[in-house]
Amino acid sequence: MKHRNPLFPYVYRLGMPIFDRLFYRRYRREAMSNAAGRLLLIGVGPGTDLMFLPPAVTSVAAVEPVPAMRRMAAAVARRNDVAIDIVDGIGESIPFPDNSFDSVHVGLVLCSVDDVAATLREIRRVLRPGGRLVVLEHVRGEGAVGRFQDLIAGPWSWLTSGCRPNRRTVDAIAAAGFDTSGLRRIRRTPVPPPCSPHLQGFATIVPETEGEAG
Ligand SMILES: C[S@@+](CC[C@H](N)C(=O)[O-])C[C@H]1O[C@@H](n2cnc3c(N)ncnc32)[C@H](O)[C@@H]1O
Repeated sequence: MKHRNPLFPYVYRLGMPIFDRLFYRRYRREAMSNAAGRLLLIGVGPGTDLMFLPPAVTSVAAVEPVPAMRRMAAAVARRNDVAIDIVDGIGESIPFPDNSFDSVHVGLVLCSVDDVAATLREIRRVLRPGGRLVVLEHVRGEGAVGRFQDLIAGPWSWLTSGCRPNRRTVDAIAAAGFDTSGLRRIRRTPVPPPCSPHLQGFATIVPETEGEAG
């Protein structure tokens, strides 16, 4: 992470439950219902998504670079009886072997990683063939909303430990070789710009054709 605001984990932990109650809880649950088997969460933050694990998930691991976030997520896991392996790391260099997960979850995190393409490459590497990238992200809007997000991206990013509200995340997921037909855009939500609209659902790896392989 290029810029860390040391207060961000605590402000986020205090403020996010308001948005969870207003909106995110339902969308978190719906997104997470696409996860199954061995699950990895990238940037687990304070661990809210651990409350929405479906029964089809058989094991849970997480990568999170901020110690305060790791502590908060571990506390949520304990309270909810979730056995979890939370490791220090970043999405751009995931400290797990190839093909080790059936599902990888990104929740409000592709806005914050320094390098989206590198993160998606790493996710492809650790996902087994046929595995799912499970998504709930806020993304760049169209028209005036998008222009507003472009305008405030710099200061917003400084305040929020690197969150860029104007990322074209669905394009990045497609460019990384995922089939995005399981993703939908949620245009109107009670979450105000710049953290709206949203992208939710799942993406799967497009198999390489013989010509592309090797
Ligand atoms: C906005 S918070 C979202 C937290 C959580 N996923 C949620 O939905 O509430 C972004 C999280 O991504 C983490 N993060 C930032 N850069 C990262 C990176 N390069 N790799 C993995 N996680 C990162 C932050 O520490 C933070 O916990």
